[in-house]
Parts: sequence; structure tokens; C-alpha cells
Amino acid sequence: MNLAVFASGTGSILTSMLEHELVVDLVLVDRACVAEQIASGASIPVVRCERKSFGADFDRVEFTDGVIDTVDDHSIDVVAMAGFGTILSGPFFSRLSGRVLNTHPALLPSFKGWHAVRDALDAGVKVTGCTVHIATEAVDDGPILAQEPVPVFDDDDEASLHERIKAVERELYPATIKTFVAKLESTMEVVT
Ligand code: GRF
Repeated sequence: MNLAVFASGTGSILTSMLEHELVVDLVLVDRACVAEQIASGASIPVVRCERKSFGADFDRVEFTDGVIDTVDDHSIDVVAMAGFGTILSGPFFSRLSGRVLNTHPALLPSFKGWHAVRDALDAGVKVTGCTVHIATEAVDDGPILAQEPVPVFDDDDEASLHERIKAVERELYPATIKTFVAKLESTMEVVT
């Protein structure tokens, strides 16, 4: 089962996967980022599909085609999104059919979108959390695989709350990916 991680940020979730001994066969990034450096440092093949080079209006379909080609070139079976900053179009999700995972820093279906932590703070909730789910073309949607709550403290700002959520994601996401891949492998063994 070949696993790819898609990232755009600081790569702390990627690091946690490596610390949990997940074998990562490809890291795909959409911009220069720390995650790219972490992958190189760990001798994992890295491909940058540079978002900026897809025009001022951003050609999402063409960008997605490039991502699909990369996934095919590396014979990827499962993709784990880890803070990937570009929304991919439908054909990507059809190609991977139910094998794209995501971790989101809120308790879905609450606080979808890129500013989930800020939105939870603004709403004044006392508990937020993180969600690992199967990603679909609809953003931050799809079947939920695992969730964990995280308390919001009175003196939290976006950074402190996000860091507390990420500490949970760094345990929950690798564990959920392992379970997901193991189930997939056992299903394939039955089929073959
Ligand atoms: C995580 O909180 C993830 O849920 C969100 O982006 C963050 C990635 O963190 N989608 P990092 O860049 O791996 O530190």
C-alpha cells in the first residue's frame, strides 16, 4: 500500500507520521514549505506542484491533472492530506475512490474551512477538537473516521489553541491512517 502525504505548511503532522513509523512513499507540496524540507531530510521522494504557476486565475482542473499524474507515477494507493492548501477538483477523488484522508482542526461538521481554529474561538465554544475523515470533493466533508475533543481555555489565542489541537492530531491521525490501511489491505487480500 503506497502512501502519499500532501502538505503545504510546517509539516508537524508529517513528522508525527514518520515518528509513528508510517512508511511515506511520496510527499507532494503545492509551494515551498517546511514540510518539503522535512521530506527531503527523511529521503522521501518529494514533488512540488507549484500552485503559483497555474495562472492568475488558478486553473484548478489543470493543477489537479498534474497531481493525478504524480500520484499515478508513484503508484500511490492512499493519500493523507496534512495541511494541504489547495482544493483539488473532482477527478482526483474519483481516481483515489475513497482513499483520500484528511485531518481537520475542529469537530466536523462544525467549523469547516481554512480558519477552523479562529472560527471556533470567535464562536466562543468551550470545546473544539479534531476530526480525521475520508476526504471528498466537498471540502471538509465525507465519512468521519475519528474525532477527539480539545478544551478551549479563556486565555487561548488562535496559535495556542491550534497547537493544543495539533498535539492531539499528531497521535490520532497516524493511528487512524494505520487502521485504515490495515483494513484496506485485509479487504484486498480477501478480493485477490
Ligand atoms: C493541521 O492542524 C491540520 O488539521 C490542518 O493543517 C494543520 C497542519 O499542520 N489541516 P502542520 O503544517 O503539519 O504543522
